[in-house]
Amino acid sequence: MMMIGSIATLKTDFMAEFKKPLQKILGEDATPNLSVWENVGKNTIEIQFWVIQNGLSRMRFSLTRMPGCCGILVSHGTSVGYDLRNKGLGSLMQNMKEWIARRRMVGKMIATTLEGNEAQNHLMQKFNWKRTDMFINPKTHNRIIQWEKHLSNN
Ligand SMILES: CC(C)(COP(=O)(O)OP(=O)(O)OC[C@H]1O[C@@H](n2cnc3c(N)ncnc32)[C@H](O)[C@@H]1OP(=O)(O)O)[C@@H](O)C(=O)NCCC(=O)NCCS
Repeated sequence: MMMIGSIATLKTDFMAEFKKPLQKILGEDATPNLSVWENVGKNTIEIQFWVIQNGLSRMRFSLTRMPGCCGILVSHGTSVGYDLRNKGLGSLMQNMKEWIARRRMVGKMIATTLEGNEAQNHLMQKFNWKRTDMFINPKTHNRIIQWEKHLSNN
């Protein structure tokens, strides 16, 4: 049976996998950061990725374990600095999210996007997320698309 490795190993392996591809796009002064807060007692996990360059945060995403189910990670807070878009960084973060989720033995990721967010919706389809629903948020009147991506084989 496969075991979940330690958080320290996750971070080391993550940097070994993604630091060079990231710096190939952004330059060697870009510093990737990965924080993982896991509370075993409360069964929570919060993962944040961000990149600092010239003292500024340039891109980021978060993954949060869904309350009540340790098999699902909610992907949120994804963004790339305006001047850095369309260089492949959003795609690289898609690969990062899936890599992390598989390493934490998560079976599914879920996310929402605005219906009008063409770039993000394009990326969701490119990375084989399944569109599961669309609803109007009664608080904001935004049209929200709901997505999921199965990571397990069944
Ligand atoms: C969505 C976002 C993260 C994408 O980041 P990025 O670094 O530009 O992503 P990439 O360069 O890897 O890819 C962008 C893709 O979208 C496509 N794209 C860009 N604008 C588009 C548009 N208006 N319509 C359709 N596709 C579009 C690009 O052609 C590219 O496609 P490709 O990979 O097939 O060549 C970035 O645009 C962003 O931060 N937006 C604001 C915050 C946001 O919307 N976050 C998501 C919240 S759900």
